[in-house]
This record gives sequence, structure tokens and C-alpha cells, in this order.
Amino acid sequence: MMPSRDGFIGVFDSGVGGVSVLRALVDELPNEDFSYFGDSANAPYGEHSTDEILEMSRAIARRMVDRGAKAIVIACNTATSVAAESLRAEFPDVPVIGVEPAVKPAAEAAEGGRVLVMGSEVTLALEKYHRLEEEYAKRCEIVAVACVGLAKRIERGNLDAPDVIELLEKLVGEWAGKVDAVVLGCTHYPFVRRQIAKVLGEDVRFFDGGAGTARQLRRRLSKAGLLGTQTRRGSVEFASSIDTDEQLDLYQRFFDMA
Ligand code: DGL
Repeated sequence: MMPSRDGFIGVFDSGVGGVSVLRALVDELPNEDFSYFGDSANAPYGEHSTDEILEMSRAIARRMVDRGAKAIVIACNTATSVAAESLRAEFPDVPVIGVEPAVKPAAEAAEGGRVLVMGSEVTLALEKYHRLEEEYAKRCEIVAVACVGLAKRIERGNLDAPDVIELLEKLVGEWAGKVDAVVLGCTHYPFVRRQIAKVLGEDVRFFDGGAGTARQLRRRLSKAGLLGTQTRRGSVEFASSIDTDEQLDLYQRFFDMA
């Protein structure tokens, strides 16, 4: 089935993190309809094998395309690294847009300084990330830290609880006062930006891929002749592999907070 201008934009992540990207997408394209799927039952993806991540991503994208999605946004750095190319091959008529750690703008802003990249184990272990790091390593020192357990903790909400700061201290505390810029290389992390600043220093600058992804989505839809024509405000619906009211309520609250 060829995608239509009237279709919706499917957005997915391993859980609630991609809601931070969804916010940027809705701000950029307020008249489009969005359908968000969080695979919270399988979060975090960063602790699965690449084969599993590929299969889970393919199943989600297949369902979205069968329901009439005109574009897919992989609002997850981990799933983008693993599955973006396969999804593009599988759905050649549907624009597939991914996110990647915003190393470029961070390296440009912190020229000659030090950039801390926070991401999942899988994102930071793959060749795609290593190439990105190599490209900018001449401009600044880049330190990559796999933040094991952080996405999982963010899934539980209640982000002002003291254990969030304790976890961040453990993961990145050694870099307090020693970095100029921080790349939030997992779409869950913008939800703890304030807490990260508390640990690393209030003057660090943060970079995430949300706004760039939104601009890229607009360009791709426009090029494919798929930008919607409606002038009313579009709809935003949430679904999760943990299909409870509490879970959907959590997505909505994170969306309102983003
Ligand atoms: N939001 C995903 C990402 O951007 C979270 C990682 C995970 O599920 O481990 O990488």
C-alpha cells in the first residue's frame, strides 16, 4: 500500500523516552496526526541483543505501516543504530527517520573542550557510533559513557526521587565540573536533564537529537509529497506494550512535561 498524505506518522521507542522526540515533532508539525508506540514491556532495548532489537523494531514498524502510517520515526538511538537500514529496505515507499547522538552540534559548541556522550550500551558499542565519534574527535575530547540502568529507571517515573541522583552520581559523577557539553544519546535522558545538570554542573550545555529529527521529518515528508494538508490541530495518540491506564497516563504526563 502506498503511503497517503492523509496517513498518520508512526513514532516508536523502547518505552517512554521517545516521547521527548514526539514533543519536538508535534511542535514542528502541529497539524499532522501522530501515533506513538512505546515498547515498555521490552524496555530497555539497550540490554537486548541486536537480533532481538531488530525483530522488535520490524514488528512495530510493520503494524504501523499496515495501519496506514505515511512515515515512521524511530525515536530511539538504540533501535535506529540497529534497525534503520533494514526498515528502509523493507518499507521503501515510507520515509523512515531515525535519531542519532547529537555529537556534531556538541563538538562544534565545545571546540577544544570535552564532550560527554551518554547512551545505551548497544548504541555506544556499534560501528555507527564509532564512526560518528571518529569524525569529531579532532575538534574536542569525546568521552562516551554507557548509562546502564538509567533508561530503565526513567521508565518508572517519579524522577525527583533521590535514587535518580544517586544513580547519576554513580554513572557520570566522576565527570562533575570536567565537561563542557553533554550529548543525551538516548531519548529517555532529556527527562532527567535537570538532574544531570545537578550532578555535572549547572553550566554544562545539553544536546539531543529531537529538533534535528523533527526538521528532517518535515524535509522528508515534503520531498515525498506527503505533508498533510489539514489546517486543524492534529491528534496525538499513545499505545504501549504494557497496555494499562497507568502506563498510558505516564506517557501523557511525560509528553506534557517535555
Ligand atoms: N530511548 C532509547 C534510546 O534512545 C532507550 C534505550 C534503551 O531502551 O535501552 O536509546
